[in-house]
Amino acid sequence: MDLWNCKHLRFFGTHLNSIPCKCVALLVIALVLRSVLIPTFSGFGGIEHDNSVKMLIPNDSFLLNSQFGIRKLKFLEVPQIIWGLNNQKIAFARACLTARMLNRTLLMPSLSASLFYKEIDLLRPISFDKVFQFERFNSLCNGFVQLGQYTDLSNRSNVVELQKGSGRKWTVERDLDQLRQFSNDPYDGYETIRIVGKNPFMWHDHWPVKDYAMVFECLGLVDEISKEVDKVVSKIRDIGRKIVSRNSVLEPVPYIAVHMRIEKDWMIHCKKMEQRSNISEICSSKEEIMERVGNIAGLKSPIVVYLAVADSLLEDNSILDGWKEGLLPFEKKKLGIAGIYKRYPYLIQSAIDYEVCLRANVFVGNSFSTFSNLLVLERTQKIIRTGVTSSCAMDVRWPSYAYNVLGESNGPRRWMTNMSASSLRPISYGSNEISC
Ligand SMILES: *[C@@H]1O[C@H](CO)[C@@H](O)[C@H](O)[C@H]1NC(C)=O
Ligand SMILES: *[C@@H]1O[C@H](CO)[C@@H](O)[C@H](O)[C@H]1NC(C)=O
Ligand SMILES: *[C@@H]1O[C@H](CO)[C@@H](O)[C@H](O)[C@H]1NC(C)=O
Ligand SMILES: *[C@@H]1O[C@H](CO)[C@@H](O)[C@H](O)[C@H]1NC(C)=O
Ligand SMILES: *[C@@H]1O[C@H](CO)[C@@H](O)[C@H](O)[C@H]1NC(C)=O
Repeated sequence: MDLWNCKHLRFFGTHLNSIPCKCVALLVIALVLRSVLIPTFSGFGGIEHDNSVKMLIPNDSFLLNSQFGIRKLKFLEVPQIIWGLNNQKIAFARACLTARMLNRTLLMPSLSASLFYKEIDLLRPISFDKVFQFERFNSLCNGFVQLGQYTDLSNRSNVVELQKGSGRKWTVERDLDQLRQFSNDPYDGYETIRIVGKNPFMWHDHWPVKDYAMVFECLGLVDEISKEVDKVVSKIRDIGRKIVSRNSVLEPVPYIAVHMRIEKDWMIHCKKMEQRSNISEICSSKEEIMERVGNIAGLKSPIVVYLAVADSLLEDNSILDGWKEGLLPFEKKKLGIAGIYKRYPYLIQSAIDYEVCLRANVFVGNSFSTFSNLLVLERTQKIIRTGVTSSCAMDVRWPSYAYNVLGESNGPRRWMTNMSASSLRPISYGSNEISC
C-alpha cells in the first residue's frame, strides 16, 4: 500500500475531504512515523511490581446485560494489524468493538512486530498472545468483548466475507449500515464473519472513548515483557534513590517521563502540519520542552526525568544538557540499559517504553502524538478509577501535561482525556484540545 497515493486515502471519509490530499497523506505518514519511538533498554536492579497499574472493570448493569450479547461460538476475523504500537492498539480495540457490535467473539488477531507497512513480507506477524496476556484479557473484559482461538472453530469453511468499503462515498453511515446488515440473517447465521480489506485502524469509528478505554484496560503485557519494564523502572528509581536521599526506603522514588518529539523528520512534519492547519502549538523545540517542564508547579526536586526519545536522538548528547537544576535527565543509554533490548523487535521495545511512561509519577508529552495521547487516556482512566472526577486538579496522583500547549506560569498545560468524547478521532489524529 502506497501511503503517498491519494487513491488509497479516500477511506478517511467525509471529515477530511476538505483538506488537500497531500496534507492527508502527510497526516497518514505522521501517524506512522509518530510511533517510531523505539528506545531500547536492558536492565539490572531488582524486580519491582507497581500495583498502581492494577485495573478494574466496573460491575455495572450495562456490562452484565451485554454479557448475554457476546456469543462464544460466533466469530469475527480481521486482517493482520499493522503499523506503530499505538496504531495497532487502536486498530485492535476497533476490531474488538466491531465484534462486540455483532455480538461475536473476536478471533485472536495477528499484530506486527516490525514497523514496515509497505513491504507485506517484512511485516513479521506476531500473535497477540506473545505480547498481551490472553486469559487476563478475556477475564477483565468478560461480558464486554471476548477473544477466541482458531481452535474454537467448528467449521473453518463456514465463513462469510465482509468487504469494507473505501472512498469518499463510503461514509460513516454506510459503514454502520453494513455492520447492521451483517448482524442479520443470512450473514448472522455464519459461524465466522471475515472482514477483508484494509487495516482496522482505517475503519470508520463508531464508538465512544469510554469503550476504547475499557478495551485498553484489559490489555496487560505478558510476564516476560512486563519483567523488562520492572527492570527499567527500578533502574530509574534506583538512580533516583541514590541522588535523592529519602527518609522512607519503602516509598517508590518518583520520576517524570517526557516523551520528547524533536527528531528531524518529526520537526519537518510538524512544521508543515502547523502551516496547513494554522495551529501554532504543534511543534516544540528542545529548549521549549526543557523550559516548560522546568516550570511545572509544585514539582519536588531533585527528580529523575526519563526521556522517551527516538533512537536517533540517543547520539545527541545535547538533549541531556540545559535542564533546570534539580531535574536529572536520563535516556536509556545514560541509564546503561541499551544492550539487552536490542533482542526485542520494534513492537515490544515500544510497548516497554510506553509502560515506563505509564507508570511515571508525572508524564509530559505532545498532544499531537498518538503515543502521548494513548498514555494520557490510560492515565486519566487510572485517575478516574481512584474516584477522582477531574484530573485537571493540581493535586491528582498521576498528572499529565502537554508541553506543546502553554499552561500556567510558563509551564506545560495540564492534560486529561475527555472521556465523554463520542469518538477516538482527537486521539488518533492529534489535537491541542486537551480538556484542562
Ligand atoms: C457483580 O455481578 C455479579 C453478577 O450479577 C454479582 O453476583 C456480584 O455480586 C457483583 N459484584 C459486585 C461487587 O457488585
Ligand atoms: C446482540 O445482543 C443484544 C443484547 O442481548 C441484542 O439486543 C441484539 O439483538 C443482539 N444482536 C445480534 C446481532 O445478535
Ligand atoms: C461447513 O460449512 C460449509 C459452508 O457453510 C458447509 O457447506 C459444510 O457442510 C459445513 N461442514 C460441516 C461438517 O458442517
Ligand atoms: C490563521 O490564524 C490566525 C489567528 O488565529 C488568523 O488571524 C489568520 O487569518 C489565520 N489564517 C488562515 C489562512 O486561516
Ligand atoms: C467533552 O466532550 C463532550 C462531548 O463531545 C463535550 O460536550 C464536552 O464539552 C467536552 N468537555 C471538555 C472539558 O472538553
